[in-house]
Amino acid sequence: MIRIAPSILSADFAQLGTEIKKLEAAGADMIHIDVMDGHFVPNLTFGPPVVAALRQFTALTFDVHLMVNNPQDLIAPFARAGADLITVHAETAPHLNRLLQNIKETGSKAAVALNPATPLSMVEEVLTEVDMILVMSVNPGFGGQKFIPSVLDKLARLRHELDKRKLTVDLQVDGGINAATAPQVIAAGANILVAGSAVFGAPDMKAAIAMLRNAE
Ligand code: DX5
Ligand code: ZN
Repeated sequence: MIRIAPSILSADFAQLGTEIKKLEAAGADMIHIDVMDGHFVPNLTFGPPVVAALRQFTALTFDVHLMVNNPQDLIAPFARAGADLITVHAETAPHLNRLLQNIKETGSKAAVALNPATPLSMVEEVLTEVDMILVMSVNPGFGGQKFIPSVLDKLARLRHELDKRKLTVDLQVDGGINAATAPQVIAAGANILVAGSAVFGAPDMKAAIAMLRNAE
């Protein structure tokens, strides 16, 4: 079962509530919320108050992707704001095991993200602690970037390792996902696809989400 997590980074920021309603009507499986701090990545987006304000618009899972240098300070505020799943970057977390426990203590699901150049070995010791691994297929910071093809082999190696260890961990991919790349990442083992520009840039959002979900 492939799930689609549209990223509201590509939404109209003046109408976020309406945009989320539209995503729900178009069949989105979850809402991907890209949190950027202007330090870990060169861009700024949403804080906990924005997420709390959006919570009333849908019951869909809020998938909060933290691209921030100090994730430990933001876990509780985002959980209180309504995050159902919180993803931290391995590159920002020297005490990754503790951070994942902290996320789970809030009642939220816990995930780790890896930048394109970060090796899988960074998450090897926490695969039993996570609900999901996010493999970035662009360098994070902006929507609309080009998919990095070397990520396909990385996805396949991680899926193989998860299967070998019989772990039910979701494998999410984020960045440059479209009609051309979706079949490739699904074949490599991803089961949750984040898509920003491919959903918001499409003439028909519902058709775009269905196309990504059924890509093979
Ligand atoms: C990149 C973000 C992505 C981004 C994806 O820093 O993490 O979630 O919104 O956008 P597209 O699908 O346009 O590459
Ligand atoms: Zn993201």
